[in-house]
Amino acid sequence: MRKYKIAWLPGDGIGGEVLEALKITLDKLDFNAEYINGDIGWEFWCNEGDSLPKRTMELLNSVDAAIFGAITSKPVKAAEAELIPELRGKGLVYRSPIVRMRQELDLYCSLRPTKAYLGNPLNFRDDIDIIMFRENTEDLYSGVEFNTVPDKLKAVIAELSPPFSRFKDLPGSEFAISCKINTKFASERIIREAFEFAKNNNRKKVTIIHKANVIRATDGLFLEIAKNVAKEYPEIIFDEANVDAMTMWLLKNPEKYDVLVAPNLYGDIISDLCAQMVGGLGFACSGNIGKKLAVFEPTHGSAPKYTGMYKVNPIATILAGKMMLEWLGEQMLADKLENATAQVISEGKIKTYDMGGNNTTLEIAQAIADKL
Ligand code: IPM
Ligand code: MG
Repeated sequence: MRKYKIAWLPGDGIGGEVLEALKITLDKLDFNAEYINGDIGWEFWCNEGDSLPKRTMELLNSVDAAIFGAITSKPVKAAEAELIPELRGKGLVYRSPIVRMRQELDLYCSLRPTKAYLGNPLNFRDDIDIIMFRENTEDLYSGVEFNTVPDKLKAVIAELSPPFSRFKDLPGSEFAISCKINTKFASERIIREAFEFAKNNNRKKVTIIHKANVIRATDGLFLEIAKNVAKEYPEIIFDEANVDAMTMWLLKNPEKYDVLVAPNLYGDIISDLCAQMVGGLGFACSGNIGKKLAVFEPTHGSAPKYTGMYKVNPIATILAGKMMLEWLGEQMLADKLENATAQVISEGKIKTYDMGGNNTTLEIAQAIADKL
């Protein structure tokens, strides 16, 4: 096996603890890697005004893959208040570093599997095996937002025919606009990724999530492109649903779903619903995948109240490690890690608090390593 260069990005809160757990299992697998620590997270925001410093972006551009723990996020005003005094009042605006990584490194595909491991007491059902392809760079996450609406934009609104021009007489300070921007390019790219995955992994159905009946321009575009791409894959069942209905169907018949594809925000929301059906965020792993680089992460946050307690479930992070191995082409190691994790879950002897046990983060990792 070649030696891989892996950027190691613990972040803050419990990020370091879950990564420590993952490391125990990767070492046991003899995964041949050099791990390079990268600065990212709340302390870099407070002290440098940048939670994702340039040096970390450079590091990311030089590695084979990255693993990311968790990061604290706060609204703009609360974030500004925590800057060191020298940096306050300079117009620095906090933006989620994970969203920045996704956009600035063009990690366009958020891959989010939802798999029920047998014996997990938290499973909603045991026959769930869904994989979500979430567009990861645009949509309502584009960052094109106006806290105060500029006159030029108001003029554009004024030109619309009623009732859509009804905001034109409001002062700019009395409303805000967040733009949902969906390009044909990125929509097609993620939809194609989902169909290709289905084809190559013997998956039967791809479901497109949208709200094209109301959000006609952007979601209409997404759905139209999906219908066209689907024609190239006649062997795969094409399915589509409005996002609101999707929450009901998923809860009613999760076993009927296979591959899901969604624009950014719906993907964010639906993937949390999926996660909860197989144990919650302690089991939710994801990959932010680009053409040359991928950053893997548990989807949970930094759980500040548990920091330093080694209490949280590291399985999401260990499964993110499994996804990394898979993406690097180390399928055998990935399978071993997944099987060992599945065994520990099904035996049900070593469990963190969320599963009704009182084992520590590292005891779970050790139990998994012992199976390897
Ligand atoms: C996720 C998270 C992020 C998102 C947050 C932390 C910015 O909820 O990865 O699902 O909204 O994408
Ligand atoms: Mg989310």
